[in-house]
Amino acid sequence: LNLILLGPPGAGKGTQAERLQQDFRLLYIATGNILRAAVEAGTELGRQAKQYMDRGELVPDEVIIGVIIDKVGQEDAQDGFLLDGFPRTVAQAEALDEALGDLGRALTAALLIDVPDDEVVRRISGRRVCQKANHVYHVDTNRPKHDDVCDIDGSKLIQREDDREETVRTRLEVYGDQTAPLIGFYDERGILKRFDGRRSPTEVHDHIRATLATLR
Ligand code: AP5
Ligand code: ZN
Repeated sequence: LNLILLGPPGAGKGTQAERLQQDFRLLYIATGNILRAAVEAGTELGRQAKQYMDRGELVPDEVIIGVIIDKVGQEDAQDGFLLDGFPRTVAQAEALDEALGDLGRALTAALLIDVPDDEVVRRISGRRVCQKANHVYHVDTNRPKHDDVCDIDGSKLIQREDDREETVRTRLEVYGDQTAPLIGFYDERGILKRFDGRRSPTEVHDHIRATLATLR
């Protein structure tokens, strides 16, 4: 399975990715996590990305495309991959198509998880992520067993820099302008699958699994 996750910020892409990794053998490639780790480590990539991320804007295509295409071509992506947060522009989608074509591979499906804007703001302002592995929680609807501690690895839960309400509004605008066109892009290719992200994480997961079972 070669999958991409599409959807607005806070739709639950990371939440579903955690579950899908347990169901299938897939290399999980989360662009946002890769970029945040680069910022944290102070690498050249992180230095180039930080200013855009803090504003809620996209990192330029020329900065991100090479990094992700490299990962898709790696040995450990051979059995399948799950891309979360890439592609996010038509140029990124075209670059991915071309790279997969060169590898003699193709996307199995583009999974679109959709939620309305007001729900996005509610979810993101209550989100907490663990410092070690980016496991995802919510202060009201997806609480850890112990306050501020990850259930899975015991690391501390923190709020992301770009999860302030004002930045979330910018991220939503950027999604509408630059990423939403990919819905039509993949629909035309016949691989778009839509999921109602307002349902509970378990319901969304069940629906995705049922859909993937028809594709294998
Ligand atoms: P990125 O990290 O990819 O952020 P995003 O797309 O905005 O997505 P999020 O991680 O915010 O949300 P999610 O859909 O994963 O939701 P989650 O599962 O956490 O990108 C960050 C930045 O990096 C970008 O702004 C950009 O600057 C840069 N960047 C990244 N990729 C790039 C690219 N390709 N090109 C250029 N720049 C790029 O869930 C959210 C909350 O809701 C959680 O609290 C969760 O517990 C809760 N929740 C989840 N599912 C449900 C549910 N079904 N019901 C109720 N609550 C739920
Ligand atoms: Zn964790």
